[in-house]
Amino acid sequence: MGIDVRAINRGVAPVTYGTGERPPRGDYAQAHSDYTCDQRWERYTAQDHDLYRRLFERQAAQLPGLACDEFIGAVHRLGDARRIPRFDALSEALHEATRWQIVAVPGLIPEEAFFALLARRKFPVTGWLRRPEEFDYVIEPDVFHDLFGHVPLLFEPMFADYMQAYGEGGLKASRLQSCEFLARLYWYTVEFGLIATPSGLRAYGAGILSSAGELRHSVTSPAPQRIGFDLARIMRTRYRIDSYQASYFVIDSFAQLIEATAPDFAPLYEEVAGASELAPDTRLETDRLY
Ligand code: PHE
Ligand code: FE
Repeated sequence: MGIDVRAINRGVAPVTYGTGERPPRGDYAQAHSDYTCDQRWERYTAQDHDLYRRLFERQAAQLPGLACDEFIGAVHRLGDARRIPRFDALSEALHEATRWQIVAVPGLIPEEAFFALLARRKFPVTGWLRRPEEFDYVIEPDVFHDLFGHVPLLFEPMFADYMQAYGEGGLKASRLQSCEFLARLYWYTVEFGLIATPSGLRAYGAGILSSAGELRHSVTSPAPQRIGFDLARIMRTRYRIDSYQASYFVIDSFAQLIEATAPDFAPLYEEVAGASELAPDTRLETDRLY
């Protein structure tokens, strides 16, 4: 994921993608050592709430036939779409459902801090909302992506367990210096995953579900390839962060995802480290295409 942590003298270090000069968006001076902070809900303006509502309504209207049933069944748990939710109230409802909580963070956080929160069933949600001119596209995850994209499936017990396992796996991958391989698994499942259902392919990845254009594109466009879930294949495959994906990976069920990722990854990391990396649009003989 190429995350770069810079030193500042208050709070915790801000985090950006890559090594660009763009300053991080969030207020890292307010964060605790685990990178969590107060949501400070009072600071949202009427314009913020209105923009959130417009984002929510546009996405919600697109869900039928494109999002998986588990997501559609849970999206109402985000509450009143006319206002950015108060994290505390949402967290309480989530905790009752799956023992997960959401916590506010200033923005992107370092991998280790991220894994540590997930392992404790705490999902970090960015506090700030994009600006109106970023209605169609925002380069970093904001509160809309984090809430609308990620939180509904945390109400789904199997997916909730997968996310915790991922966090624990992340702490282990750090020790094994294999975070890059594990990040690809996150990307091609949690962010851009598709699921095959009796009614056809559907999206469950947060990056797709919170995107105005990629939701329909990922499920219906003839352009990208859609490949049956294959753990080692995913870990070898690079991804694009600045355009629609060239390849999506398709699971049959959340149970499959949990079963396939349950074994010890240590030998797999060694195997993948010894194999060649694959470009995002590579097609292999062994790919099971949809
Ligand atoms: N089984 C993985 C390991 O041993 C942990 C993991 C589970 C990682 C689920 C990702 C998702 O490292
Ligand atoms: Fe995300």
